[in-house]
Amino acid sequence: IGDVIGLTPALGWNSWNAFGLTVNDQKARVAAKTMTDKLSAHGWSYVNLDDGWEAPQRLASGEITPNQKFPDMKGLTDYVHSLGLKMGIYSSPGPRTCGGYLGSWQHEDQDAKTYGDWGIDYLKYDWCSYGEIAPAHPSLDEFKKPYQVMRASLNKIPRDIMFSFCQYGMGDVWKWGAEVGGNSWRSTGDIEDTWQSMSTIGFNQVADGPYAQPGHFNDPDMLVVGKVGWGDSQRNSRLSPDEQYTHISLWSLLSAPLLIGCDMGKLDRFTLNLLTNDEVIAIDQDALGKEAHQEVKKENYQIWMKDLEDGGKAVGVFNTSDKYQTITLKTSENGLKGYTKIRDVWQQKYLIAAGNNLTVKVAPHGVVLVKLSK
Ligand code: DGJ
Repeated sequence: IGDVIGLTPALGWNSWNAFGLTVNDQKARVAAKTMTDKLSAHGWSYVNLDDGWEAPQRLASGEITPNQKFPDMKGLTDYVHSLGLKMGIYSSPGPRTCGGYLGSWQHEDQDAKTYGDWGIDYLKYDWCSYGEIAPAHPSLDEFKKPYQVMRASLNKIPRDIMFSFCQYGMGDVWKWGAEVGGNSWRSTGDIEDTWQSMSTIGFNQVADGPYAQPGHFNDPDMLVVGKVGWGDSQRNSRLSPDEQYTHISLWSLLSAPLLIGCDMGKLDRFTLNLLTNDEVIAIDQDALGKEAHQEVKKENYQIWMKDLEDGGKAVGVFNTSDKYQTITLKTSENGLKGYTKIRDVWQQKYLIAAGNNLTVKVAPHGVVLVKLSK
């Protein structure tokens, strides 16, 4: 288990950035139906509930049950499966989740069994109140422990469940996440729908990069595109359209799980286009499972490169300034020699280099994402 699933990063939806604790059965069904109708042909498959589904108390038997917003968790999971999709759920190794709901503390075996019985396919496991259980300055072993405990519980059930660690990168989780059996691990704190937040997170995924591999990926947090808002009063993502291209391009180069954080019932055409470009998604889902590295870091721009399974290279030329810039990628350098076919994957057209120079005009906070082949 663990090493045979999740060979490529998860593609799906998570309720948190759109609904926060107001998620309910109906909202999850809308997300699932929209995913089937509009996204699953492009590889999207996970419908993941985040915090807020748990009842205030366990049953007398100690079993976890959903609260009144989820009248029938098995029924919801069956519905999600009937659409050809997969179902995800959320818990914490602590007594309480971050939202104050019940966590799995001392009920790990029981909860893993319940998830298996419901047909759950993905578990996000959020540190939260485990901070009260762990010592003030946890050692490496203490950071690993709650994830090892739940890993062991998941291994006991006859169902494969993707295991997503959420502990915000503590203890350099990327160094041990794979060994403890995580399919992904959050490498940062929570993202917000601002350039400051998204770009700081995205462009700082450097130290963790070499640890990404098939089945085990860094998770720089969810996508802040479309209608977000962490509750019922939603707004359009405050990222500009070009910033959203940067967000999806960078996350794809990083081999990140792509978890859409918007109200799927209000998916607009721009957001839909952003999420259904097969050539971009193919970069995220590349079977080699490598993460891009930061090849060039200048004050005003950055270039990130990712090795692809077919021998090609995905290259993101990012303008981090707020003015248009003309940026030159030298195809005689950076191991790009001989890569003469240059495909702009957002535009889905070939670009022509002048000699060894590919010169592109990049919008403020925008990107040109290309795939180079021989
Ligand atoms: C903190 C996590 O980082 C978020 O992604 C979300 O799961 C919330 N907790 C839920 O309480």
